Order: sequence, then C-alpha cells, then structure tokens
Amino acid sequence: MPERSSSMRIVRDKLKHYTEDDIEVKDGRLFTYLYDPDMKELREANDIFVEFLNRNGMDYHAFPSTLKIENDIVAMVGSLLNGDSDIAGNFTTGGTESILLAVKSSRDRFLEKNGKDSKPEMIIPVTAHPAFRKAAEYMGLKIVRIPVDPVSFFTIPSKVEESITENTAMIVASAPNFPYGIIDPVEEIGKIAEKHKVWLHVDACVGGMILPFLSLIGVKVKRWDFSVQGVSSISVDLHKYGFTPKGSSVILYRNHDLRRYQLYVNANWPGYPMSNVGIQSTKSAAPLAASWAVMNFLGINGYVNLARKTLEAKDRLVKGLAELGYDIVGSAETTIFAFTSKRVNLFRVAAELKAKGWFLQVQPGSEREDLPSSLHMNVSPIHVRIADEFLKDLKSITQKLQSESDPDTSKDSILELIQSIRDGKTGIIEMLNGQSSPVKNNQEILYEIIRHISPEVVEKAFKDMVNDDFSPSDDFQS
Ligand SMILES: Cc1ncc(COP(=O)(O)O)c(C=O)c1O
Repeated sequence: MPERSSSMRIVRDKLKHYTEDDIEVKDGRLFTYLYDPDMKELREANDIFVEFLNRNGMDYHAFPSTLKIENDIVAMVGSLLNGDSDIAGNFTTGGTESILLAVKSSRDRFLEKNGKDSKPEMIIPVTAHPAFRKAAEYMGLKIVRIPVDPVSFFTIPSKVEESITENTAMIVASAPNFPYGIIDPVEEIGKIAEKHKVWLHVDACVGGMILPFLSLIGVKVKRWDFSVQGVSSISVDLHKYGFTPKGSSVILYRNHDLRRYQLYVNANWPGYPMSNVGIQSTKSAAPLAASWAVMNFLGINGYVNLARKTLEAKDRLVKGLAELGYDIVGSAETTIFAFTSKRVNLFRVAAELKAKGWFLQVQPGSEREDLPSSLHMNVSPIHVRIADEFLKDLKSITQKLQSESDPDTSKDSILELIQSIRDGKTGIIEMLNGQSSPVKNNQEILYEIIRHISPEVVEKAFKDMVNDDFSPSDDFQS
C-alpha cells in the first residue's frame, strides 16, 4: 500500500504506463478477445454501465430493477433460441460461469436420481471448451473425451452413443465450437440424449447471439437450439456476438425444474438467509444493465445488420485465404474459423502478423490426436473495413516465408528439444528462461513443442509459470 494518498492524475498516469505493452484493442487489428461492432452509438452503454456499477445484483429485493432487467434478458435470449414460456435462466459473468452452473445442475440432478455415492460422467468432444473440464475438475465429475470427425471436425453422434454408460450425467455439444467454428450435429445428438434420458448441454457461448441472425439473413444453419427436444440447457455469451460489455452471459434451461438444481441457498449461519442464483454473491449490476441497454438499442434488425457485416467480412477473408493457398479447417460454416497450411510455418506467420500489428490466436493443435496447427479468426463487423488490408499484409508475409526455406538444422534442434522434454531432462519453463536457450522469447518454438508433447507436461509447466507470474511486481513495490 502506498504510504500517502496521491492525485487521480498520478494514479491515471501510472495505470497508463501499465498498459503500454497491451495489445491494441481498436481498429480491427485483433481477431480475438474483442467482438467489435464498430458502432460509436453503443458507447453510450458505457455510461449506463457506470450508473449501475454499485447496485448490488445479489439482492433483488433491495434492487428490484436488477430482477426485472435479468428476467427481460433471459426472455429475450430464450425467444431467440426457440424457447417456450417454460424456459428458465440467469445472467452470469461469462461463458465459464454459465458452463459451470449447467454442469453443477446436471451433476446434482444425477446425484439426486442415482444416490450420493454414484460417480457422474460427462461426455465431451475434444473440441469442447476447456470450461467443461474445469467444471468437471472443480465438481468431481469424470470426463469421457471423444474424438471428432477428422475431416468435418464435428462430434460423431455414434461415438457419443457408444460412450454413454449408467454414469453419464451430461453430454456436451457446441454451436459452434471455439477452435474451428463448427456446429455439432445437435439434432442427432439430441435424439440420443432423449433415448437415454441424459442431459444435453449445447455450448452456444460464441454462437448464441449470431446464429439466429445468420438464419434470418438466409444462411443455412443446422438446428441447435431448444427446437431440438433433447436439449436441456444452453449457454450464450452476450459479451461475444451480443456486443455487450465483458462480464455478461446467459445460462438457459428448458424448464424451471432443471434450473432449480443451479440455485444455492444457505440459512445455516447467524446472518440473513443467503440465496444465490450463480457463483457470485455480491455482484455489480453494471454488465447486466449495460447488456440490457445494448440489446434493446440494437433490437433484431440491429443484430441482423451486424451479422450481415460480419458474414461479409468472413466471406472475404475465407476467399482471400484460399487465394493465398491456405486451407480452412473444416468448413468455415460460422463467423469464427481457423486456417492451416502445409506450405508455410503458421507459427511464423502469426509472429510476422504480430510484428505488423495484427493479433490472431495461435492454435498448436496436437500431433498425437492428429489435430492440425492453425490460426484462429474471430470475425467481427469491424473487419469488413480492414479485411483487404489484412489480406495484403498476409500476402507479403506468405510470399516472404515461401521464399525462405526452413533450415533443416533448426528442425533438428527443435526435435532434440522436444525429445529432452519427453525424457524429463529439461522443462519447458527452464528452456523459456534459460539464457542460452533457443526457446527464450521464441513463441514459434514454444508452439511447436506444445504441439508435440503431452498436454499433462504442458499443463504442469504452465501452472508453474502462472504461479510465478502472479507475484507482486518490482515496479509496484518501488
Ligand atoms: C464456445 C465457447 N465456450 C465457452 C467459452 C468461455 O467463455 P468465457 O471466456 O466468457 O468464460 C468460450 C470463450 O471463447 C467459447 O468460445
């Protein structure tokens, strides 16, 4: 703690200094993290955010506006997802919280039916978001991980059915999945879930606020929502294609009976009976009110216009990538997708793009599971303005890399590094930090290593790294 108070100007300057190394979150240079509608009018929602900042969404008796707003949001999203009047749901802080709550609900329903000593399992395709495994690890479910189709990259319904046991508490499908933007065959999986009476969760965190609007403009979208009878719950993030501030998502259930498992009440302490719908107790109503404002401001026609722009940007990017010789992973059926290449080193492409101010998520894939390395594109309306500039830069990078041949010696030394990690002779972190290490500050080699070694080794190394990173900075102490 600083000894003395200081002026807000000094505080602001210090914060500004902290942000100097952040990636630029404007002008469409990011293809990840930010869903930019490119609409100045939406900035007014920031004022609403501030107005509701200190209303406590935990106690809707004290702040009845928060209950009304939350119920409105759930009703709006439910209607987009073909829900009927039984639909129940809540506003949460993000996709991960929505998923954690759905997993808790399915687990508690399973334990109620099968007894406290039963051992719930969850079937997830390899493309499911890590939030599911996180939920399983937090809440003691066993994960049954199944491969996806090697060409289309969607979940194979027969594999789901083969994996069902008496312990299956939940099946997961995505609409679409994050890595490749592929919508799983929810209709077929829904039939299996109905037949075996198993909970099916559809993760539409990324797709929930764009697929309904793509359908409205004539894009053929597979059925994935509550119109599929077997679907029990759906997670939909507003802070993605809903274009609302970060910290906003919705979890929906087919009916109130299923949602009841989500709720937490505790009257066994000297204080007031505590009831929480989600993971948090005290929570700012800011993201809730700002989300409501954005959704009401845009309305269906506003979202349709934004979906049209996003689609146009996506189509131009996909066409341009094909002309440059890149391959789309799967089919780019939605507005997020990934591309790969057999001709150039994608990890180098990403590094070169970054040097030119473009930021794409790198996906190392997995050699063991035959999942390609790829670069991820989260397309937003703003990208319609800069798609051509991006493709021009990518063209010059691609030509440059194609004219340089990868020296075999560097490949050999990377293979040696990978082998020494596999043999336990050295760790990833030691390599990253080692003064004479070829991996020092070299993300390309790091991605190559991640692609080739077991996820357990990577997870352990990253846990060590994060543990170390989250230590008070020398900067602050001084
Ligand atoms: C399909 C999918 N599910 C879940 C999540 C997790 O969402 P959040 O980062 O808001 O917790 C994401 C985030 O990208 C996602 O794309």
